[in-house]
Amino acid sequence: MENNVDIVYFSGTGGTERAAKCFKTSFEKVGREVTLSKVKDAPISFGEEDGLILLLYPVLAANAPRLVHDWIERLESVKGKRAAVISVSGGGEMSPNTACRAAVIRKLERKGFVVTYEEMLVMPANFIKFSGVPLSRLLLEALPKKVEAAVSRLESGFVTRSRPLPVDRLISAAAKLEQLGAVSFGKSIAVTDACISCGRCAENCPSGNITMLEGNPIFGSSCNLCMGCIYGCPTGALKPQMMKSAVLKEGFNLEAIEKAELPQNADINALTRGYSWKGVRKYLTGD
Ligand SMILES: Cc1cc2nc3c(=O)[nH]c(=O)nc-3n(C[C@H](O)[C@H](O)[C@H](O)COP(=O)(O)O)c2cc1C
Repeated sequence: MENNVDIVYFSGTGGTERAAKCFKTSFEKVGREVTLSKVKDAPISFGEEDGLILLLYPVLAANAPRLVHDWIERLESVKGKRAAVISVSGGGEMSPNTACRAAVIRKLERKGFVVTYEEMLVMPANFIKFSGVPLSRLLLEALPKKVEAAVSRLESGFVTRSRPLPVDRLISAAAKLEQLGAVSFGKSIAVTDACISCGRCAENCPSGNITMLEGNPIFGSSCNLCMGCIYGCPTGALKPQMMKSAVLKEGFNLEAIEKAELPQNADINALTRGYSWKGVRKYLTGD
């Protein structure tokens, strides 16, 4: 259908990045030319030629990270270029997450994009309540097949758009307040004596919010509260002074999860017991 696929993504702790890379591999398998850019370095002009823009981001407080909204606002207008939006969450397609793509899609449409496809992928939850290693391992295992299925739907021209409940739209819109809180969160991060000045936090920050000054990380005013710096610090030296209980005590490391043994004959219903895991259960089992 199209020649080029431009993939643009935001990822704090690596889940969305894995999904974006999986899309690149799957599109290349079917002969597409693919570019992959992080939102902070992504172009703002995409020309009018046939092609697809695929935007991926983690669900943060039932919405997209602020940087994603800012990028769309800076995008040059187009006439009818095709776009697809993929959200990546810890909880799956359930209330209030169902509205997490609505504002992004509306903004893309105002810029002249035709959004024909949207989907929720599920990756391990890095906030408040961890998915647990066995479930996280199953989610990582499921990713390539989920992405391959999405790519074949996109290639066939399949169109899918959701209708989020009004209450979910309201919650998602109210989550803008958390985006303001994100700036304070970033400013609150204390650098303890455990810091070894490796600069990994500055290198990996998807918002470009951390700079190294004489060996010390300095936090600016554009934190997106993705938790990447906190979980990614090799010595655990970064300690936020607010929302402490939302940070996973056990940390969050996808590379370690990938190395864990894949559970055989896993009882997914048992691993996803309770209302808050309903969306994950549906994602893995279809029920
Ligand atoms: C501040 C914050 C808010 C989050 N809010 C939600 C949410 O509203 N719904 C949800 O399902 N997951 C939520 N998550 C979990 C992430 O969407 C999920 O772990 C995702 O896989 C992270 O992607 P990443 O590894 O690319 O950053 C939140 C995570 C963070 C850090």
